[in-house]
Amino acid sequence: MEESKYIWMDGRLVPWREAKVHVLTHALHYGTGVFEGVRAYRTVDGRTAIFRGKDHVKRLFNSAKIYRMEIPFSEEEILEAMKLVVRENELEECYIRPIVFRGYKELGVDPSGIPVRVAIAAWKWGEYLGRGALERGVRLKTSAWRRIPPQSLPLEAKATGNYINSAIAKMEARDVGYDEALMLDYRGMVSEGTGENIFIVRDGELFTPPLYASILPGITRATIIRLARDLGYSAHESEITLADVYTADEVFLTGTATEVTPVINVDGIVIGNGRPGPVTRKLQRMYFDVVKGKVEKYKHWLDYI
Ligand SMILES: Cc1ncc(COP(=O)(O)O)c(C=O)c1O
Repeated sequence: MEESKYIWMDGRLVPWREAKVHVLTHALHYGTGVFEGVRAYRTVDGRTAIFRGKDHVKRLFNSAKIYRMEIPFSEEEILEAMKLVVRENELEECYIRPIVFRGYKELGVDPSGIPVRVAIAAWKWGEYLGRGALERGVRLKTSAWRRIPPQSLPLEAKATGNYINSAIAKMEARDVGYDEALMLDYRGMVSEGTGENIFIVRDGELFTPPLYASILPGITRATIIRLARDLGYSAHESEITLADVYTADEVFLTGTATEVTPVINVDGIVIGNGRPGPVTRKLQRMYFDVVKGKVEKYKHWLDYI
């Protein structure tokens, strides 16, 4: 990864290489952390802005609340700290990673009483699914592993522990030459990727799995639903089968890291004509215009640093 100069830890900036924790940190052993993935972009007027920063901070606080963690800072302070990290690292465009986690005190499973710590890092991160993914599109493989069922863990929370499920599916897909895994929920309905939501396009309408299909309620997913509707498309949250994906006209993934990435092949089956489709392209273009502050109507989603 491309290292920056500073990381914000528990209220102050420390040099990147000194942002360390003890090996007996609770979160390292039991996955007791919550986090966010945020991006900042250079906007048309030359200033850098965090995209939907307040929504990410809100989700971070909600994730912490679900796991009974009290963040020792206010939402405003965390947003300001995110801006500070971008500014002090002199980053024009970057990925921002706030994490709230149970620190070091005791090592029983019970996290109550273990200090809650907060860190925010930011660094340059290009295309999440590999160079050229946004232009060319990616290939998915359906994972043998099912997404964590909502009866087992609250998937509205973006918790670090959830990602062991994502990691095993991702390795499985990468090991046989695919770019990303497609995960089904515990019922066998389409859920999401390992770090992104999925949309299909059929006859000019958009469909994406509902919240109860074990998905993380993505902020990019919500953005795309809104942009699609404003552009005159119907966008539905509805059950999707694997066969629906195979026979869709277009498929794409959304996520802060992934942005809007076309999918051209799933399990060896070519999607549409094997090239990113026109609806995907239009929404992708619109998304980048919005994050770069080119569309007046959505400028309220930008937090200038
Ligand atoms: C499992 C999972 N699903 C979906 C998403 C997309 O969410 P967002 O658009 O808020 O980044 C992410 C990324 O945070 C994720 O990790």
